[in-house]
Amino acid sequence: MNLNLIAVLGGGQMGSGIAQVFAQSGFKTVIYDLAAGALDKSKAGITKNLDRAVEKGKLSAEDRDATLGRLTWTSNLADLSESDLVVEAIIEKLETKLQTWKQLDELCRPTAIFASNTSSLPITQLAGGVSHPERFIGMHFMNPVPVMQLVEIIRGYMTSDAVYQTIFDLSKTLGKVPVTVEDSPGFISNRILMPMINEAIFCLYEGIATKEDIDTVMKLGMNHPMGPLTLADFIGLDTCLFIMEVLYRDFADSKYRPCPLLRKMVQAGQLGRKTGAGFYTYDTAPKAVAAK
Ligand code: CAA
Repeated sequence: MNLNLIAVLGGGQMGSGIAQVFAQSGFKTVIYDLAAGALDKSKAGITKNLDRAVEKGKLSAEDRDATLGRLTWTSNLADLSESDLVVEAIIEKLETKLQTWKQLDELCRPTAIFASNTSSLPITQLAGGVSHPERFIGMHFMNPVPVMQLVEIIRGYMTSDAVYQTIFDLSKTLGKVPVTVEDSPGFISNRILMPMINEAIFCLYEGIATKEDIDTVMKLGMNHPMGPLTLADFIGLDTCLFIMEVLYRDFADSKYRPCPLLRKMVQAGQLGRKTGAGFYTYDTAPKAVAAK
């Protein structure tokens, strides 16, 4: 199938990172966001990333310009009508996603493939709201998207083999390593990662060690690039709590209960890097590019 135009819904950290990767791989890509401010931020973030790659000698100035030339930003949904693939990376709210997909379903060609970058909402449920659920799939990128190699490919109950194969092969074209997952709470990544982070928060909550020592154990003892509490701040504590709630509810198993400290910090608006404070404090705004 020819993928002449890719649309990315959501100009936040994840959406911008996804769009950057598509454009760098030669795809004409349009980024949609409702908020004009988000579009400006997205454009500035991608440009900064590409400039940095040029400075480091990892990208030629011509390739940077060509990549930027393949990208457009819009707040008009109608500009997405000719897309062959829509990748959605908007807020993790089921109702908002369903409503957005309904609009796209009415707007896009019936041959268009719809992919959601959701980190934990059921793909089958999202697909239930569109007229061609066989063309709906999960394409879960990791943050920061330009750096992380993994893409989880989540097959919904109705996803066709042809669509699955197209998206699997496409992920390789993007330079990523795709892994296939059946539609199950948290998929693989968050089913394993979030309970680990939650357990690290329990260690802090129970006073077993300091936050620095908890992070050091996982960094130096397990060679993780970031300790779990630093990573929680990086992902956003609201996102971590949301995913734990999904696991807890959908598996109906107490082992997934969110740590009360995580809940309290989210209630207090201490969401990590994006708010300037979480387990640690941050003087600056988060680095340019990608967050959900
Ligand atoms: N966008 C683009 N590139 C970035 C970037 C960003 N936001 N942040 C860092 N980079 C690049 C840097 O430019 C640098 O590139 P070069 O090697 O070409 O110089 C490279 O990444 C390494 O960066 P740094 O040297 O600044 O810092 P680092 O070595 O500490 O790496 C990191 C930073 C890649 C973020 C690393 O700490 C890491 O891998 N952390 C774990 C990230 C992780 O676990 N992500 C998954 C989160 S879970 C998720 O996304 C899914 C979900 O559903 C919640």
